[in-house]
Amino acid sequence: MPVVPTREIIARAFRERYGVAAINVVNDLTMEAVLAAAEELRAPVIVQTSVKHVKMTGIDAMYAMWVEYAKAVSVPVALHLDHCPERDVISACLAKGWNSVLFDASKLSVEENKRQCIEVVAEARRHGADVEGEIEGFKRTEEMTGDEAEHVQRLETVVDFIAATGVDIFAPAIGNAHGTYKTTPHLDSQRVTDIVEATGTPVALHGGTGMTPEQFSDLIGRGCAKVNISTALKIAFMTSGFDFMTEHPGDYDPPKIFAAQRTAVMEMAKHHIRLFGSEGKAWT
Ligand code: 13P
Repeated sequence: MPVVPTREIIARAFRERYGVAAINVVNDLTMEAVLAAAEELRAPVIVQTSVKHVKMTGIDAMYAMWVEYAKAVSVPVALHLDHCPERDVISACLAKGWNSVLFDASKLSVEENKRQCIEVVAEARRHGADVEGEIEGFKRTEEMTGDEAEHVQRLETVVDFIAATGVDIFAPAIGNAHGTYKTTPHLDSQRVTDIVEATGTPVALHGGTGMTPEQFSDLIGRGCAKVNISTALKIAFMTSGFDFMTEHPGDYDPPKIFAAQRTAVMEMAKHHIRLFGSEGKAWT
């Protein structure tokens, strides 16, 4: 079971300038399908869990699922807790064995975010885990106004936050958002270069669903070693189920629907792994 520290997966990708797909899963089927896609393409992958799905499934059940499914693959994989403002959920996931967490205190002041993030990093280290940090927060795509890239902290603030907290990965706002973009987003890619040059810290690219192949390769080349995909999985999972029922009216045999959904999620994951240049990059 090659579960490795998130830091290790990201450090290689950052050095060699490819992107690791960090894909949010919603249940057992999608977790297994993402891992199977990575195995098929010999790619490292990060499986992400949202606070909502951790609570929905239960932390013990979700972790048990992870342990069992990860046993079946031979490529480097890690389990990550996405956007979590709740310190008790962070503590519980770290204690259980998650490899990394995104401490999302973007609603707090930068000073308070920094103070708490220092504590989260210390706690993570005690468990051999890693931390992603953010100070700006991300909108949903439906809330976008077009001037997202302008509402960001100064570079000095970012540099100070990363140095003071010791986060392993930083997630900056560059005009990206979560959800389905109405049009191709205008991204401040120079900001990624500025942060990487000033700190040497790998960057997490959020809001990956709907970015163009050119945007991915440009941003990965600048240091976005972790590329987050969530909405694309939800779309693949839900529409494949809907399509199956439309094409097979009256066929209520769940395993048949599940097979269609697994194929769709695997195809979606493989598409992004190839796009990010991580196919064949497994070293275990
Ligand atoms: P999308 O839902 O836009 O793919 O964003 C994923 C993400 O950034 C998760 O943190």
